[in-house]
Order: sequence, then C-alpha cells, then structure tokens
Amino acid sequence: MNEEMRRYFTPPDLKAAKKRGKEKISVLEFDPIPDEMKEIGNGRKYLIKTYGCQMNVHDSETIAGILEQMGYGPAESEEESDLILINTCAIRENAEDKVFGEIGRLKTLKTEKPELVLGMCGCMSQEESVVNRILQKHQHVDLIFGTHNIHRLPHLLKEALMSKEMVVEVWSKEGDIVENLPKVREDGLKAWVNIMYGCDKFCTYCIVPYTRGKERSRRPEDVLNEVRQLARKGYREVTLLGQNVNAYGKDFTDRNYRFGDLMDDIRKIGIPRVRFTTSHPRDFDDHLIEVLAKRGNLVEHIHLPAQSGNNEILKIMARKYTRERFLELVDKIKKAIPDVVLTTDIIVGYPGETEEQFEDTLSLMREVEFDSAFTFIYSPREGTPAARMKDDVPHEVKKERLHRLNRLQDEISRKKNEALRGQVVEVLVEGESKKDPDILSGRTRTNKVVNFRGPKHLIGEFAHVRITEPRTWTLNGEWVEEADLRQVGG
Ligand code: 5AD
Ligand code: SF4
Repeated sequence: MNEEMRRYFTPPDLKAAKKRGKEKISVLEFDPIPDEMKEIGNGRKYLIKTYGCQMNVHDSETIAGILEQMGYGPAESEEESDLILINTCAIRENAEDKVFGEIGRLKTLKTEKPELVLGMCGCMSQEESVVNRILQKHQHVDLIFGTHNIHRLPHLLKEALMSKEMVVEVWSKEGDIVENLPKVREDGLKAWVNIMYGCDKFCTYCIVPYTRGKERSRRPEDVLNEVRQLARKGYREVTLLGQNVNAYGKDFTDRNYRFGDLMDDIRKIGIPRVRFTTSHPRDFDDHLIEVLAKRGNLVEHIHLPAQSGNNEILKIMARKYTRERFLELVDKIKKAIPDVVLTTDIIVGYPGETEEQFEDTLSLMREVEFDSAFTFIYSPREGTPAARMKDDVPHEVKKERLHRLNRLQDEISRKKNEALRGQVVEVLVEGESKKDPDILSGRTRTNKVVNFRGPKHLIGEFAHVRITEPRTWTLNGEWVEEADLRQVGG
C-alpha cells in the first residue's frame, strides 16, 4: 500500500463509535470545491441508489449536490452511469441483505465497464463487519465512505478515479457540523431539513447511535434560514429531520433553546406545512405540546414510536419510559390537539418476548388507536447489547405475532379512516396517481394519501377534497371547488 493509499484506508471501528466525548462540536462551512476537482465529472453521469430512512434520502440529495458541483450529471439508468453510489441502511438484516444483493449484481456491469466507479456510503459503511466482508468478497467496489465524511466526497472520488485499490474512508467518531452543503432536492414541493444529527439514546436493539454518532444540533439560525429560503423558493412543506428531534438543543452550551422553541419560531415562517420525524417519547415535553397546539403551519400529525406495550420489554430495550408514562403522554397530546393523528413503530419478537408480553403490545395498540404503524420483527445487530441477549422465541412465532399485530392495526386504520367519510380535507396535490394518470394524488396535513379526480393544474397546489370512500391505507374523494366550498361554509 503506498502512502497516498494509506491516507484513504480508514476502516470503521464500532468501539470508537460507541464513545461519547465531551468535546465541543464546531460548525464549519463547506469548502468550495477546489478548481482541479470541478471538472472531474464533466461528461460523466451519476446514479445514487438510496435505502433506508429520510435521513438517508436527504443525504443522497447532498451527495447529488456535491457531484453536480463537480460536473457530474444525473443518469437515467445503471448502464449509462459512470458512477454508482449505494447509500445504505443498517437498521435490520434484510436492509443489508438487499445491499449485498445489489453489490453482487453490479459486478457484471463493472466487469463489462471497468471505468465505472462503484461506491458504497451510508450506515452500513460504518460497520466493521460489512467493510471486512466487502474487502474480502467484493473487490469490485471502488469506494467506501461513511455518514460523517460526506463533505469529503470530492477528494475521495478523485482518489478512487486515480487509484487501482479500494478507497475506504470511514470516520467512526462523528465529525463537526458542516453548513452550506450543496443539495439537489428531489421534490419541488416538499423538502427535508436536518435539525440534528446522531443519537445518544442507545436503545439496546439499535445500531443508529453507532452509525450516526453523538447528538449534535444545528444552530437555530441556520435551520430557520434554510426554512425561510425554502419558503421563498415556493416549497409548500418541510419535514424537520433528526433521529430523536426531541433532544434538539440539549447539546447547546451557549443557549437554552429546545425543540419547542424551534417549532415556535418556525411557526412564524410563511411555509404552509411543517412536519418532523422522529420523536422519542421520553424527551417529548409540555412546552412542545403547547407549541404544537397552536397549529397554523404545524400539522396535527405526530410519529411517536412506542416499540412495545410491555414494561419489562421496554426496560430491556432501554427505552426509559413505561407503558403508563407513554399513555400519559398520549393523553396529554390528545387533550391539547383533539384531532391529532398519531402513528408509531413497533418491534415484535424481542429476545425472550413471551405471549403475555406481546399481548400487552396489542392492548396498547387498542388503547391508543394509532392511525397507522410501522411494524418490525426484531433483527439482531452486531455490536448492540440486544444481540447478546438470549433469544428463545422461534422465528415462526415472531412471524405469527407480526401478522396478528398487522391485522389489528389494519382494523384500527380502517376505523380511523372511516371516521373521515363525508369530511372535506385539505390536500397538497403531489401529482398523478401511480395507478391511473386520470386521478390526482396528494396528502392531508396528517400525511394520509388522498386520490381524487381533478384538473391537472391543481398539481403543486392545495385542494379541498370530500372523502367519499375511505380505505385502510388511502382515502378516495371528490374535488370540492372553491365556490362550492364557500357554500358549505368551508
Ligand atoms: N430490529 C427491528 N427493528 C428495529 N428498529 C430499529 N432497530 C431495529 C432492530 N434491530 C425499528 C424501530 C425504529 C424503526 C426506525 O426501526 O422500531 O423505531
Ligand atoms: Fe435507535 Fe432508540 Fe436512537 Fe431511535 S432513539 S435511533 S430507536 S437508539
């Protein structure tokens, strides 16, 4: 390995990723792309394949922004690409399996077109076992970088183009916050905005605190400026992103400013809809509820992962709340915002979960009546405490529990949607429905999908729709023209 190569061979280290130091996080500005790198991509095309959560989707927008500043243009297909980047997710084993499938499949293309640069980034890059497996079995990969050094892409890509060896640069310790990163946003109506990075909660099943580092909040003025700019550009909706948005501001040493304060300030910006994801019930404070109850552009939808309804399981998950505390919080939210839509995440088949413990989750679902839920079978993640717990629950039992949970949730979702029959809702019209171009499709403030027949000029606008046919996951309706709306009294 030559000197230059050694510089770009920094593999991940899970133990280092676990450490939480007291060092102050600095805020840096993204350096302009050096002149000698601005033309690297001229005449070349890139394709980014994104797996996982919204954080990854947004990271891909940043990666696209950097690539376009380097002269690259977007490709329509794998075949016409000169650079393919796979932005990966490590949350469950099946997400990882899909990525390894993709990497294996792309070997043929790489053999036919050796000048193709194939790279991997995102959460899987942060895992030692993944990088070792790629080094051993997938030598056709040219570049691996992680979640903390996206801004280094110009240098890494230059190296990958020149070098015959695999370029690996993964920082296990989180970096500083980098502002002013370029972005190519995928959507002209709805935009993602990072408010914080990382997670310090260390739920025992979760890999995220290792792959995304410690909690770091962006300065409020940077977040507010970004939202103002998006409003000016005509965006209709922003979603504030963080692994645990309720911890926003906890890391500030120079001010006392938390998520409730941020929402109160964003409320005053002229952007029609503001969402956030994802919340941890533990840090959800009264001030935030008070601010959300002021509504305006703050929509009445809260994603509140419960994970389980059983106290013993919650304890071994290290969720740091009980079923009773969770229900109290739900109660408080429902009192403050009576028409709130709550959604959740649930894990079934935790190591050692008994039938009775699982039934507590079912009863929690009945009690809260979430409008919808993302439900998962527990997947062991190497390096996390839960992966070392004894697990005697057979996979068949886990599958059956997931099925029962989903059936119950479908019933509740159907009932919730049925309650909307005949009501007129505000829909942000996103485009034509995937199944039928004569039908328009959009979302309510509560993020429910609504399909209806209407003129194409409504795309990108808000429309009023009367719900005529509620379904389990979507709502069908009829467009209500403004004049008719006035007659029914709005
Ligand atoms: N196995 C199964 N589900 C998981 N989640 C996180 N880690 C795991 C895991 N190891 C789920 C949680 C979380 C959502 C994003 O993914 O429910 O809220
Ligand atoms: Fe994972 Fe828990 Fe952090 Fe969510 S709060 S990212 S589940 S550790």
